[in-house]
Formats: sequence, C-alpha cells, structure tokens
Amino acid sequence: MARVKDFVDSQNFTKDELLDIVKLGIIIKKNIKAGYPLNVLYHKTLGMIFEQPSTRTRVSFETAMTQLGGHAQYLAPGQIQLGAHENLKDTAMVLARLTDILMARVIKHSSVEVLAKYASVPVINGMSDYNHPTQEMGDITTIFEHMPKGKKFEDLKIVFVGDATQVCASLMMVTTKLGGNFVQFGPKGFQLKEEFQEIGRKNCAVSGGSMLITDNAEEALKDADFIYTDVWYGLYEAELSEEERMNIFYPKYQVDMDMIKMASPNVKFMHCLPAKRGEEVTDEVIDSEYSIVIDQAENRLTAMRALLVYFMDKMDETIEICKKNLGE
Ligand code: CP
Repeated sequence: MARVKDFVDSQNFTKDELLDIVKLGIIIKKNIKAGYPLNVLYHKTLGMIFEQPSTRTRVSFETAMTQLGGHAQYLAPGQIQLGAHENLKDTAMVLARLTDILMARVIKHSSVEVLAKYASVPVINGMSDYNHPTQEMGDITTIFEHMPKGKKFEDLKIVFVGDATQVCASLMMVTTKLGGNFVQFGPKGFQLKEEFQEIGRKNCAVSGGSMLITDNAEEALKDADFIYTDVWYGLYEAELSEEERMNIFYPKYQVDMDMIKMASPNVKFMHCLPAKRGEEVTDEVIDSEYSIVIDQAENRLTAMRALLVYFMDKMDETIEICKKNLGE
C-alpha cells in the first residue's frame, strides 16, 4: 500500500507506522549525538509556513533540516503573498514546485488540509486549531524514554489535566491509538468534545486502550504514570480573561505538589510549552525532579528529523546508515 503523502493527522496512520516513525527518530538522535553526519536530505528544501508564532516547532524543523544536510525557509505572516494576495490553493501548487517538502502552522485546520490537497509534495501539520501531530510524535518518544521500569506502553496511565486544547486532543488520539490508557481531568464545558471522544472510543476498540473523561480528581490521578498539562486559554478561540480562567480552573486543575502526590510515586510531569507558570502549573512542579518538560522540548527535534526523513522517503536508507555508523 502506498504511504500516506502528508502528516496532517496521526489518525491517518497505523499504530505500527507511528511506532516506526518514533523508532526512526530515536536511531537518528543516537547517530547525531554520537557525532556522525547524516546528509540524507542533502540539497532538499523545507518551506515553513507560519500563521502563528512558534519557538519549538520552528527551531526544531530548521535545525533538523540543517542536521540532515538540507535547508529550511521561514515563511512568516506578511512575508509571503498568502492571505492578502494569493489563496491557499495557488500557494500550495507554487510552493510545491519551489520546495521539496512543506510544513504549516495554521489558524484553521482546513488550511493545512487545502495545502496538503493541492501541494504535490508532502505537507506536515505544525499545529492547527484541531490537533498538534508533531507534538504527539515528540511526546510519545519522551514517554518511551521515561517508561517506568517493568511497564510497557499499554500499561501506562497518561493523565491530561485542564482545558481540552488541541494538544489534549492530540495526546488522547495518539495514546488510545497505541493502546495506552488516557484520562482527561478537566471541568465540564472544557472537556474533549464528542467528536474526539468518538475517535478515542474507536481507537480503544482496536488497540485495547482506554479513555476516561472526568472531573473527579482521585479517579483521574490515582496511579498516574504521566501528568500532562497545557495553558488554560485556547490559542484560537476568543481568549478568556485571567480572572475567568482562574475562576474556572484554579485551584482544582493547577498541577501542584499535592496533585503530584496523588499519582504514582514515579510520576513524570509533561507540558508542551510554552507554560504559564503560576496558572496551570506551579514553579515547584515544573522545576522539580518529576518534570521532563525540557527532554520533551528536545524531542520535538527528534520527531521533526524522523518526520522529514519518513515523508521524504528516506527511512530505509537512513536506518541503514545509522546502524552502520553505530555498529548495530
Ligand atoms: N509546543 C509548541 O508547539 O511550541 P511552539 O508554539 O513554541 O512551537
């Protein structure tokens, strides 16, 4: 079967395909950390469309292209014709002739779908108002790297605390796809919508995973292996004022040391970043030994390298080079 051209939604991939991409990222990381060059994308160009600001996504894509022997072009709002003078369809068709692969961080999910439809080159979704699939791949890599002793992915309880952001939806989709146990601990009105719950249920029916959406702290946090949170304001909808946010989420949904103590003694704390310290998480937690947020941010780069190699059809060649370099 032909490989899916674009990485717009991890749901378009099987569990094995997603795990192949994670494993690819891990061997490339090992190769690069060992100091071996890896020019598998020599002279290839990535076009990076950003309708929103970014630190991790932008820098990790750009660094990944450099490390793989290629080049990335940052196409920021106001710097290209998109939006003002040119529509998405024309932009997609033209950029596909000028670059080898595209990524896009978009305001509306339909925009990345249009880009993928009309671009003849692969398109990677760098976050939309629906999902954040490159974050998913980095997060799964981080979870594998911090797997509790004696456990496998299917044993894990992964708890997302707070607002049902696109990162929450993404974590749910990939966790249930891979057969893990996902919980959202969030207030009514800010829980994953039925559309997502339906996806989760279908994933669980295939993978054997589980999904729970609750506002009951004890049920949510007992034995949690990973606690994950995100900001309390959606990036794309009308923002809540600070007072409104605090009234809805604080103190019940703030990840503090009391919450950490309710979980497994070996619990790890995750956050996609940027964090609003003092709102969804305390300094004490994010700076603690429980926190793996910086490993998580580094693994955005691990994921981007893997995705670029995979969608440029260089996976087998890359694995062979890395294995040879590493003597495996
Ligand atoms: N987590 C994440 O996507 O970070 P940026 O917005 O900085 O890219």
